[in-house]
Amino acid sequence: MKLLVTGGAGFIGSNFVHYILKTHPTDEIVNIDALTYAGNLENLTDIRDNSRHVFVHGDITSTRDVNRLFREHRFDAVLNFAAESHVDRSLHMGPREFIKTNIMGTQILLDAARKHKVPRFLQVSTDEVYGSLGPTGAFTEETPIQPNNPYSATKAGADFMVRAAQHSHGLDAVITRCSNNFGPYQFPEKLIPLMISNALADKPLPVYGDGLHVRDWIYVMDHCSGIDTVLRKGKSGEVYNLGGNYDVPNIEIVKGILKILGKPKSLISYVKDRPGHDRRYAMDNTRAKTELGWEPAHRFEDALKETVNWYVANKTWWDRIRSGEYLKAYDKMYGWREKGDKGVQG
Ligand SMILES: NC(=O)c1ccc[n+]([C@@H]2O[C@H](COP(=O)([O-])OP(=O)(O)OC[C@H]3O[C@@H](n4cnc5c(N)ncnc54)[C@H](O)[C@@H]3O)[C@@H](O)[C@H]2O)c1
Repeated sequence: MKLLVTGGAGFIGSNFVHYILKTHPTDEIVNIDALTYAGNLENLTDIRDNSRHVFVHGDITSTRDVNRLFREHRFDAVLNFAAESHVDRSLHMGPREFIKTNIMGTQILLDAARKHKVPRFLQVSTDEVYGSLGPTGAFTEETPIQPNNPYSATKAGADFMVRAAQHSHGLDAVITRCSNNFGPYQFPEKLIPLMISNALADKPLPVYGDGLHVRDWIYVMDHCSGIDTVLRKGKSGEVYNLGGNYDVPNIEIVKGILKILGKPKSLISYVKDRPGHDRRYAMDNTRAKTELGWEPAHRFEDALKETVNWYVANKTWWDRIRSGEYLKAYDKMYGWREKGDKGVQG
């Protein structure tokens, strides 16, 4: 298959690119990414010479960039990972960029996929569109959409546009909604990498509120295998929940990281809660399991240990992000990235 991956220089997108190159030896990927603060070409360094991966510096909100891609390639599927993805930024910096990329960008891709008769469109969505749960139960695909923050509201908006394109125009489209991911290449503003990097530097570990907000955690490679399964086996018009079957309070995750690193609990520092902070998320994976045969393959404890070890071994990677050095590296890397202004292999 020839796949268009958007946002493939970000955390999950770059892991997905690696996953596909490894598990599908004949698949080809065109990877478009605008390289916002969250996009990092250093996530793709090891595959820069892989002839089955082409990186294109471009913006999904630009009809020019998107149309050019669809004219140059014949895609078997579009997978839309590109997004403004950080809840805190949507709260404190405003939703404008979120509306632009998450809703407008998705619509531009949907229009192009329809115009060029792409056989499959996969929208990478989130459990956050369902809002918050009480003390029991789990989100199913039938749970009402009730987003509570600007990020999740724009992801819900995108889901509705995908649904409309499928329903009104017959575009073959599927949606995956996944829980909280962790693993290599996650931007250090997110919970797990932030806690690891602070603990390693003996800095306070800021935990929102009472630390009892529950999230369902999934190892990023399990998310990638779920997306891949839905891509190849999912039924057009369906939504598939993907979760890690591991819902625990944030404070337990933080304590787990401290234990792996052998650091004291006294580093934990409770800070003022995020406004409107959803209390509990949990995912019911029954549909993906019974209809597609997908299940997460990694045990949380093992995957967390592996992840912590990755951040310990790749300190230069996140140090360069924290210091802003990775942004400067773009200039150097543009040399190999945009030869002929068409994107190059890498
Ligand atoms: N991280 C999670 O736990 C999680 C959970 C469920 C779903 N998701 C969804 O998965 C997707 C990927 O999340 P992530 O954590 O990897 O995010 P990320 O912020 O790490 O990566 C997003 C990528 O999209 C790129 N991008 C942003 N705006 C763009 C634009 N206009 N055009 C092209 N590229 C653009 C960025 O440069 C970046 O590389 C998102 O759609 C997110 O909503 C994430």
